[in-house]
Amino acid sequence: MRNILVTGGAGFIGSNFIRYMLDRHKEYRIINVDSLTYAGNLENLKDIVDNPSYTFIKVDIRDRDKIDSIFSNYAIDTVVNFAAESHVDRSIVEPEVFLTTNIIGTQVLLDMVKKHWKVNPEDKYCKEYKKGVKFLHVSTDEVYGALGKKGMFVETMPLLPNNPYSASKASADLVVRAYHETFGMPINITRCSNNYGPYQFPEKLIPLMINNCLNDKDLPVYGDGMQIRDWLHVVDHCAAIDTVLHKGIDGEVYNIGGNNEKANIDIVKLIIHTLEKSESLIKYVKDRPGHDRRYAIDNTKITTQLGWEPRYTFEQGMEETIRWYLDNTDWIKNVVSGNYMKYYEEMYSGIDEVAAGK
Ligand SMILES: NC(=O)c1ccc[n+]([C@@H]2O[C@H](COP(=O)([O-])OP(=O)(O)OC[C@H]3O[C@@H](n4cnc5c(N)ncnc54)[C@H](O)[C@@H]3O)[C@@H](O)[C@H]2O)c1
Repeated sequence: MRNILVTGGAGFIGSNFIRYMLDRHKEYRIINVDSLTYAGNLENLKDIVDNPSYTFIKVDIRDRDKIDSIFSNYAIDTVVNFAAESHVDRSIVEPEVFLTTNIIGTQVLLDMVKKHWKVNPEDKYCKEYKKGVKFLHVSTDEVYGALGKKGMFVETMPLLPNNPYSASKASADLVVRAYHETFGMPINITRCSNNYGPYQFPEKLIPLMINNCLNDKDLPVYGDGMQIRDWLHVVDHCAAIDTVLHKGIDGEVYNIGGNNEKANIDIVKLIIHTLEKSESLIKYVKDRPGHDRRYAIDNTKITTQLGWEPRYTFEQGMEETIRWYLDNTDWIKNVVSGNYMKYYEEMYSGIDEVAAGK
């Protein structure tokens, strides 16, 4: 039995992770804490809302008192921290919320871990924790900055973030590391490459292009479209986090990547051809400031030490993903129109705080 606090579980990866864990670990209880920003969508979890092992609580991770009471009320022994502002473009326009959620929010969680899991929380020299506890911080390959034409990110590289989003994620990584070094906290940090799959908010490359293509709208491509990312199916990411939760060595950082380097423009063209549309929809637009040219993950550590490896080929993953968006046009319509926000009001109005689930 584990009581897992999943933060940001109404977002893209968090909702896939909750579904993945409930499918595989019948004895675990998941407590999903999410403040439901524009990116949080409870429709992503519609199919599991009645699962007795699942509870949703609408809370901001920066709210110290509420997080404190959740640790007490649900006997939390595991944290998987997904909650974040996650869109680079937004961080360029409005950096502050990225710093407060991604850094301060993480620190609030760490403080609660220290308070509730340390054997003697009053003793600053005590580095002993209750048995079986773990704080897993979900980070990104973007913290390493950009690569040239060659080379790959390894866990020991310096962090050189280039935009406010990646700077906030890198800062949080350093705070998590410091709580391990100073307080002996049993933590892991995972740094994953770009994810794709079902339930991704259509501001990100793949769902945006699928949605625009379906509606015969322009496909905006930054710069020359030759920015390279390493793509991983979200279910492979969930499996990797599950692996790190169970096998990760305390204090270690694990890169997670799919060995799938693709240029943005090639992904756009793949979507166009799969949907039998015309490349004339492509519109090159001015590049994003500070746009990293290439990311590539060396996943040797997690594959050799923990035995995880990606299962999806890019071709299979993209085919399934495009199929999912075709089969779930109502989901996209609801998100694009903003109607998904009403779902929460309808489902949970009047029970704002500790609500839903059983
Ligand atoms: N999407 C990717 O390709 C990718 C790759 C590597 C790492 N990551 C990391 O994985 C995590 C999840 O990413 P995602 O793509 O699912 O993001 P997302 O934007 O889809 O979801 C983020 C969730 O966090 C919630 N949230 C935001 N601020 C909050 C706060 N203050 N308190 C509580 N909840 C809050 C939102 O409501 C949303 O449900 C992030 O930490 C991100 O940095 C994402």
